[in-house]
Amino acid sequence: MSEGHRPDPSVTAVGDADATRDAAAESRGHWSTRAGFILAAVGSAVGLGNMWRFPYVTAEGGGAAFVLFYIAVTFIMGIPIMMGEFAIGRNTRLSPIGAWRKIGGRAWVPFGYLFVLTGLIILGYYSVIAGWVARYALGALFAGFPAEAGEHFNQIATGAPAIAFHIGFMALTIAIVMGGVEKGIERASLLMMPTLFVLIVGLAVWVSTMSGSGQGYAFYLTPDFGELLRFDILAEATAQAFFSLSLGMGALLTFSSYLGKKQSLGQEAGIIAFADFGVAFTAGLLVFPIVFALGLQGAIGESTVGALFIALPSGFATIGTLGRVLGAVFFIALFIGALTSAISLLEVVTSSIIDEKGVSRRTAAIGAGVIIGLLGLWPATNLDALNAMDVVAGQVFLPLGGLAVAIFVGWVMKDPLEEVMQGMRPSARPWMVAWRWLLRIAAPVFLVLVLWTTVPAGWEAVRALFGD
Ligand code: TRP
Repeated sequence: MSEGHRPDPSVTAVGDADATRDAAAESRGHWSTRAGFILAAVGSAVGLGNMWRFPYVTAEGGGAAFVLFYIAVTFIMGIPIMMGEFAIGRNTRLSPIGAWRKIGGRAWVPFGYLFVLTGLIILGYYSVIAGWVARYALGALFAGFPAEAGEHFNQIATGAPAIAFHIGFMALTIAIVMGGVEKGIERASLLMMPTLFVLIVGLAVWVSTMSGSGQGYAFYLTPDFGELLRFDILAEATAQAFFSLSLGMGALLTFSSYLGKKQSLGQEAGIIAFADFGVAFTAGLLVFPIVFALGLQGAIGESTVGALFIALPSGFATIGTLGRVLGAVFFIALFIGALTSAISLLEVVTSSIIDEKGVSRRTAAIGAGVIIGLLGLWPATNLDALNAMDVVAGQVFLPLGGLAVAIFVGWVMKDPLEEVMQGMRPSARPWMVAWRWLLRIAAPVFLVLVLWTTVPAGWEAVRALFGD
């Protein structure tokens, strides 16, 4: 028999492996379109973090100077770590726990659990805030904003009304995640994200016509470079970037486990980071002019919750019908952002339960949702708990998770270059070599420094909650 006729065993083996893997991907779910994946990831990224937290931390951190800084962190740290999550997820086609185990062995599994735990904590309080947002949106539509905004907020922020809206929001999130990757998450994202973009761009244009808005732009866009020299502000910007980009707890890792090999991970990460920043920046173009036009500047930097749920609504109340319309559009946009983000948080937990326990998606989504629903009872009755959960998960667990991703992809994963090069032009290789070194050295050093300043803050928040 001549060489040419003998069946090459390695070829069939590869073919079979591919076929099984494709079948597995099929039953696990996968994105049906590129836009579906991108919009779902952008949906995860764009949320309360962009429209609620970003303007607030910007105001605290020195306006435009902080924005420049934030851009740098987003692109220099955010995109590479996002690509790291993508590389792990697409390579293993598993949710976090299984992915860490498959590549790193048992020793790395605790990081999988850390990711799931972080998801539980974040969604636990995120859903309570989303519940407030839903309530304000409905209020604007059907009743108008009450003049005593502060009192109103105190009434609805905790206790029975907060619990009811939190549970309702979780039920909606569960329903979408139960629908699966393609029919639930992808479809919801394709529908909701374009709506969100239209609403906030429309609002930003409208707001620019309000008299007095100029001062708001000036405040937002005039840099105060003095603030920039402080490392704690840099750390704050980093934590904010991680939260806003949904990094450091496996949300994008999980989403990329439903991805095919043809897409360029670098390009997708760039698009997602750009869209996320775009929405955050636009939110600033919206919030600051409103705040100044309505004479609420005193409220900036008051408290995160205060600016959004007290100052803005009280301003809306003073301008009657116009305020109701503006407020309704604003809170509806915020609600959409919160919902698509919550989907990704629940998906991490759901997908981990499916992969680890082999149960159906329906059972996993409901199980995960009920656990989070119960966990949310705490922040729904105690604002200090809400704050502590935000600080610990957002400022400590996310940078820690990002550090783990950087070290894992940089040092432990066998051939991350091969994984990211799939879907990229060969000419991108030198950039990807640089990417790996960034994950190996620069990102870990930087993130350890960040944790150095945020861990004490986390500790403080926990002590304030439990201590005396
Ligand atoms: N990025 C979302 C926001 O800005 C919140 C979010 C969704 C998130 N999934 C996440 C944050 C995963 C951290 C990790 O509102």
